Amino acid sequence: MQRVIHFAMAGLVAALAGFTFVEPASAQSANPAAVIQERQELMKNLFPAFRPVRDEVQAGQTPDLDAMATAARRYADLTKKIVTLFPAGTGREVNPDTRAKPEIWSQRAEFEATAKTLADEAEKLAVVAATKNIDAILAQVGPTGQACGGCHGGPATSGGKFRFEKM
Ligand code: HEC
Repeated sequence: MQRVIHFAMAGLVAALAGFTFVEPASAQSANPAAVIQERQELMKNLFPAFRPVRDEVQAGQTPDLDAMATAARRYADLTKKIVTLFPAGTGREVNPDTRAKPEIWSQRAEFEATAKTLADEAEKLAVVAATKNIDAILAQVGPTGQACGGCHGGPATSGGKFRFEKM
């Protein structure tokens, strides 16, 4: 019994520690190359997830509000994972192909705040998209797209505060 309790406590402590440092077991145990690949794929999926919401609104079409709500939810869920996919030891020192700048680790608080801004804006978008209120969705599309710029510019090749420019 004692052992079971200890085990449960250890699990709780580990869970809390993981929560505080926002580094899931998967990111910690995976090898750096796999983490880098996972985050690059996530990044490439962000815009495709967002696009159905933005394009229909911009084109002035009568939007498919159900599809929009689904897309916005997927997008919000993806943005929440960003911060977990940049554990220490996954920069150019281990892989020259990553475009992650050292500032991600040397200015961690700002990096996490920038990621949180995007996640918060995306969450707001998902919430208003679920209400199917087109005016509210419209108002939230801009801030959500702009939040990418906190780390890098718009174009896929652009650099920025936390991403090297593509050479
Ligand atoms: C918290 C910082 C941060 C935010 C916010 C952010 N990105 Fe990124 N993004 C990065 C970093 C760092 C890389 C480079 C990752 C690497 O090469 O390991 C990157 C890479 C990319 C790439 C290129 C993938 C590749 O193969 O290099 C695309 C496309 C991209 N991001 C799209 C977006 C979009 C769209 C948004 C907004 C919805 C966004 N990003 C928001 C930090 C961020």
